[in-house]
Amino acid sequence: MKPSHASFILSVVPVWALPAPQASPSDVNNQPGPPGSSGSLRGSEALLGYSSSENVPKEPSTEIPPEDFELAPGQSENENLGLYIDLTNVKNPQPIRGGTTAPTDPGPRTEAYDRLNSDLFIPPGTDEGDVSNAKWPFGLSHNRHGLAGAGWARQQNVDQLPIATAMAGVNMRLSPNAYRELHWHKASEWALMLNGSVRIEAVNEDGQTFVDDVTAGDVWFFPAGVPHSIQAFENGCEFLLVFDDGSFSEDETFLVSELMERNPETVVAKNFRTSVETFSKLPDGQLWIFPGTPPPEDIEQQNVTGPAGVIPKTQSYSFHFSEQQPYTVPGGSIKVLDPETFPIASDFSTALITVEPGAMREMHWHTTSDEWTYFLQGSARLTVYQAPASSRTFDFTAGDVGYVPVPNAHYLENTGNETLIFLEVLQAKRYSDISVNQWLGLTPRQIVKDHLNVDDAFVDTLPKVKPIVVPGNPDMTTTNFTGSPL
Ligand SMILES: *[C@@H]1O[C@H](CO)[C@@H](O)[C@H](O)[C@H]1NC(C)=O
Ligand SMILES: *[C@@H]1O[C@H](CO)[C@@H](O)[C@H](O)[C@H]1NC(C)=O
Ligand SMILES: *[C@@H]1O[C@H](CO)[C@@H](O)[C@H](O)[C@H]1NC(C)=O
Ligand SMILES: *[C@@H]1O[C@H](CO)[C@@H](O)[C@H](O)[C@H]1NC(C)=O
Repeated sequence: MKPSHASFILSVVPVWALPAPQASPSDVNNQPGPPGSSGSLRGSEALLGYSSSENVPKEPSTEIPPEDFELAPGQSENENLGLYIDLTNVKNPQPIRGGTTAPTDPGPRTEAYDRLNSDLFIPPGTDEGDVSNAKWPFGLSHNRHGLAGAGWARQQNVDQLPIATAMAGVNMRLSPNAYRELHWHKASEWALMLNGSVRIEAVNEDGQTFVDDVTAGDVWFFPAGVPHSIQAFENGCEFLLVFDDGSFSEDETFLVSELMERNPETVVAKNFRTSVETFSKLPDGQLWIFPGTPPPEDIEQQNVTGPAGVIPKTQSYSFHFSEQQPYTVPGGSIKVLDPETFPIASDFSTALITVEPGAMREMHWHTTSDEWTYFLQGSARLTVYQAPASSRTFDFTAGDVGYVPVPNAHYLENTGNETLIFLEVLQAKRYSDISVNQWLGLTPRQIVKDHLNVDDAFVDTLPKVKPIVVPGNPDMTTTNFTGSPL
């Protein structure tokens, strides 16, 4: 029976624990240790290089025999084809492309990361040069828990993903009836409801008020500095927040609890023309995310207005995006939400895009803004092409964040068996892109032919409108892209 990869590792690991030859221990090494200790903290000077001729290491081979691993479909093909390598189910996956059985990885390694990131582990032959990391899984973020099981939040900002300077993200959960405390912050907040529903309310600097109920697929926006609260209904909720500042931190927001606690008690009492005793039961410390009393079902019971009335509909803080019908194209669909229809979010231009298995969000770039991307469902890969000659390919699954600096070219290819759903967020007045298909389709024929050495038959196929998504074969290991079932 062949030794498994695991037993191979086990037979190697004890090397790290073997006693090294010791000579003339130093004073430090002679200090008595705790009961049960043995050996020396440091090795002797005799271990300094170089090896003597009789001392050349004779080690077992580090090569992994071909019968101890499997290649996934596509691994044997030319590496420049860059076929997607699905490592989900292969035994002992190895970083091999292009019809060889090398190189292998004897470890140490975290196989789960390799399986999830096959394009980093086994890059397409076309990946070149140095490109900053473009992926952050919320699953690697610290998850901060609220009070008494009321929810949690985890974030991605420049501390996690240093290239993401223009935007940051937060993934937040509120348990049934829980609140995100009344608060405000320096950055503007754009939100997409992921599950369940919430009541949101806010008061602006003119004393106009806003209250609305939003559900999965809906969007809200709170301008910088405008105080607001968020309360889940009886079924709880989860949502995604995007901020227009890459260094935003969810742990550094301004909180009503701390506002009251961090000012002299007499000042707080004077401010409200009351007695100090009024605030004798302030919560101890911040509330942040905490259990609440169920909100009244009838929203009119929480519709407080002053002389300035409500925030006018044209400046509304919410958009019932879940009810917007998608624009469908072969291979997928797109819903755009930007200031043309949601004016208050004056710098947030977004698109919610679906891509069927085998299909691809076409090669494109954005002219004025970085792109912050969130994956809601399925799996995808994306290659960042950076001027002049670098590129790197990253793999994503639901719950990941992606980031592409302006104006780097990229595509998003569905690498899984279910519909890919992702969100593109730009800091722009209008959602737009440059489509590589359309660019070349609108460039004079002779110019295209002189640059790319392509024939007339190909130039004839170039579209004059953006495909947005291009259909493709769900079999990711074929070069026959016309075999689309769509
Ligand atoms: C919300 O979460 C529940 C529990 O996982 C799930 O059954 C439901 O499909 C989710 N709804 C949406 C809109 O994702
Ligand atoms: C709240 O009251 C105002 C009138 O004071 C009204 O215009 C508005 O429609 C009401 N409802 C909501 C949800 O704002
Ligand atoms: C897609 O389905 C095929 C078989 O139908 C399976 O072999 C493959 O692992 C699946 N890929 C993913 C990414 O789930
Ligand atoms: C590609 O696939 C389609 C559909 O399966 C088939 O009709 C076509 O002959 C294939 N083309 C090649 C070059 O194999």
